[in-house]
Amino acid sequence: MENYKLFINGEFVDAASGKTFEAIDPGTEQPIATVAQAAKADVEAAIAAARKAFDSGIWSGLAPSARLAKIQDFADQIAQQGLRLAATESQNAGQIMNLAKFMPLLSIGYARNISLYAATKFPWQEEIPASGNAFGPGREFIRREPIGVCVGIIPWNFPMLMAIWKMIPALATGNTVVIKPASYTPLTALILAEAAKAAGIPNGVVNVIPGSGGEVGKILCTHPDVDKVAFTGSTAIGREIMRMASSTVKKVTLELGGKSANIILDDADMSLAVEGATYGTFSHQGQICESGTRVLVSSKIYDQFVEMFKKRAEALRVGYQMDPTSHLGPLVSKEQLATVEGYVKTGKEEGAELITGGKRVEVKGIKGGYYYAPTVFANVKNKMRIAQEEIFGPVVCVIKYDSDEEAVAIANDSIYGLGGGVFSSNTARAERVARGVRTGTMWINNYHIFADFCPFGGYKQSGVGRELGAAGLHEYTQVKRVHASYVADRNTNMNFSLLSDNKRVEGFGYNCPTAVNAGHGALSSISKTIADLGCRRALILTDPGVRKAGLADLVKNALADFCVGIYDKIPPDPDLESVDGATDAARELRADGIVSVGGGSVIDTTKGVCVTLKNGGKANDHLNFLVLTEPQTPHIAIPTTAGTGSEVTNVSVLTSKGAGRKLFIVDTRIMPNAAILDPRFTMTLPNAMTVSTAMDAMTHAVEALTSIMSNQICDGQALHAIRLISENLPLVVADGKNEKARLNMQIAATMAGWAFTIAQVGLAHGMAHTAGTLYHVPHGAACGIVLPKVMRYNVDHATDKLALVAQALGVNTKGMKEREAALAAADAIEDLMKKVGHPLRLRDVGIPEDGLMMCAFHAIADTADLFNARPVNDPMEVFEIYKQAY
Ligand SMILES: NC(=O)c1ccc[n+]([C@@H]2O[C@H](COP(=O)([O-])OP(=O)(O)OC[C@H]3O[C@@H](n4cnc5c(N)ncnc54)[C@H](O)[C@@H]3O)[C@@H](O)[C@H]2O)c1
Repeated sequence: MENYKLFINGEFVDAASGKTFEAIDPGTEQPIATVAQAAKADVEAAIAAARKAFDSGIWSGLAPSARLAKIQDFADQIAQQGLRLAATESQNAGQIMNLAKFMPLLSIGYARNISLYAATKFPWQEEIPASGNAFGPGREFIRREPIGVCVGIIPWNFPMLMAIWKMIPALATGNTVVIKPASYTPLTALILAEAAKAAGIPNGVVNVIPGSGGEVGKILCTHPDVDKVAFTGSTAIGREIMRMASSTVKKVTLELGGKSANIILDDADMSLAVEGATYGTFSHQGQICESGTRVLVSSKIYDQFVEMFKKRAEALRVGYQMDPTSHLGPLVSKEQLATVEGYVKTGKEEGAELITGGKRVEVKGIKGGYYYAPTVFANVKNKMRIAQEEIFGPVVCVIKYDSDEEAVAIANDSIYGLGGGVFSSNTARAERVARGVRTGTMWINNYHIFADFCPFGGYKQSGVGRELGAAGLHEYTQVKRVHASYVADRNTNMNFSLLSDNKRVEGFGYNCPTAVNAGHGALSSISKTIADLGCRRALILTDPGVRKAGLADLVKNALADFCVGIYDKIPPDPDLESVDGATDAARELRADGIVSVGGGSVIDTTKGVCVTLKNGGKANDHLNFLVLTEPQTPHIAIPTTAGTGSEVTNVSVLTSKGAGRKLFIVDTRIMPNAAILDPRFTMTLPNAMTVSTAMDAMTHAVEALTSIMSNQICDGQALHAIRLISENLPLVVADGKNEKARLNMQIAATMAGWAFTIAQVGLAHGMAHTAGTLYHVPHGAACGIVLPKVMRYNVDHATDKLALVAQALGVNTKGMKEREAALAAADAIEDLMKKVGHPLRLRDVGIPEDGLMMCAFHAIADTADLFNARPVNDPMEVFEIYKQAY
């Protein structure tokens, strides 16, 4: 009789206590080997070896390809031991030789396949191109790293394959392992240890310690140096393992019991279905966790099926497992035999009809052995214990049902959800049934088919996690997220400013990719620009007023053959439906590029359209910050008002009826590819609109300059924009056809747009967005009215910047203190507004006085406030500003 020892830290050793136990042949009840029996000291030694090996990096620190090479050597060593492994598995576990001979093959195949996958395809490191956090810019990536010391607790039905299913994914992902085989079947795991040693897997990486589940298992599941426990076995023990592992919050994967339903539909090929039910339940004496032990049969074919199934069960030969003619070998143990006998007794008592089997079998020429006849109970009700509890033997329950729906309901009426089958000649019907069953695996017209790359695991009380496939590898890794900040400066990191009085952000990035063509006749650049963008089918988006002014047709003419149509239904202050309507039109016309002709309403809608066209769905799906990872549908913007700036900005402001407020898409990728500033397009703009949209641009410039995000490039643009507006606005109000002044206004608006795209806006915008949402006050008008009040609110937080505004507005600041100059800037804005006839009070633009408080509460939550020079935290302060503007 052979002696097997424990495998700890690369050595085969006796148990510290010197104790051994016997491995038995269940077909003869004779001992076949003695095995060292691990106890506390041995378990601790194994864990310590695995811990040390893991922490040293000798295995975890190898490249996956280096681990692959070692696992291939391991697989070669398993192959060299193939016959010994198969014979030992058969003799010790009672697997018929016909089955056991495949086990080395399956083990080697899995080891090679999954370690190659781990080395070549597994996503060890992944970049996250758009993090979803707009305030913490930086590189984001995740790494998958090994968990550490992984314990594998192995069942007795497939001792070698289950040990491989635990060892290989753990090793391929860089973990170290401690394997505890079942006490009945310790031998093949120790032969695998020999193979690992021969392959040169470093000491401590693989440890195998047979011993009692109660003692050894308990230490493994509670030891602080163990990081993960993977267990295959009964649900009762699985619960206990989960409980024990919880004391140190170990990662746990569990492959537990089942009571799987094999559903025979009325259109099944009968001989196939009977064979599927036979193979699905009597393979390995029914000692397979996902066996189809509840055979659900349609009432239409029930009698015929039961008769054929009975005959087929009776034709199965029970014999010694190493006799090549045996179909079924012995059960694994005396205890398992007693369990099976107990359940058969229960079934009879419950009123199920025993139609064959139900007794032990004596095998000729052998004294003893735990043999049991293939047993079929018919007329079983699903609520009977024999249909609810896992028997783990050659006992099958046949249950009748009337409809596919009832079959699914019966299948799901179980605490388990591991496997299952459907037999049918109608694939669609079978798939429908398969989808309905809440279980981890369903086979159609087959059973017990596993595959290296296909995951296996349980729903409900059949388990936690998955084995095999990529999913199985993920179970042996944990995810580390790494954020590498762009900003390595404390004053540039916005979130650090939360704990600081200095909210100014000093560093900045400048990314304004819109190409600009400006000047009289700049429109003629459009055909080259659209061709350069690769578009052949441009759609013009506009609104009725702009169309009426003849501007859309001007563009259509310039686009010539590149134009597929004009869509002119965009309303002022667009909402999500406006975007969806225009997107539908673009889809219908198969537009591959959009030209927006209009003010902020048209350009913002178009930005939403370009995102929705590219990414699918509806506008509401895309309202977010910095999540676009690819270029959007090409967009050329032709502004027709005096100040939106949207033609070069990274924001689209859209009203959401669902949210009851304006929401944003903010992303560099929505910036138009090109903008055309042609003064002809603003010359038709009525005075009132000229003035209010110019004040929008003015607000952009002042708020960008005073924002906590302001920077030197944007400051320059903002100041020049303020100067251009203050000089040219009176000129265009006096003479709308003053082309030079119109162009200067367009350029100012574009510069202000660039400035605020990088530097952001502030409270005046927050307040104007609210007035627009709640009372439809035109955006520019609302901006203008509140701007001087907000400037005064900010006077002590942006004194220097506001003093510069005064100079840009032409105020003679000589002799003034900086604060005086800053306040003079606010006065100068009001003077300019008076001069050009801009409304000065909110009461004049349709806001009721009793609406101001509501406005204040809305405005306090606007994103723009985040960047305001003075922190905006108190709704009463905002209410006060609204009152001043009223
Ligand atoms: N995304 C951004 O960067 C940004 C910046 C500022 C404003 N906005 C948004 O833009 C919208 C406001 O845009 P707007 O102020 O440019 O006005 P608008 O686009 O709403 O146009 C206002 C009116 O003016 C008419 N009009 C425009 N140009 C004309 C012309 N040349 N001749 C005759 N009539 C003309 C239009 O038909 C429309 O009825 C708001 O929704 C605001 O939130 C966005």
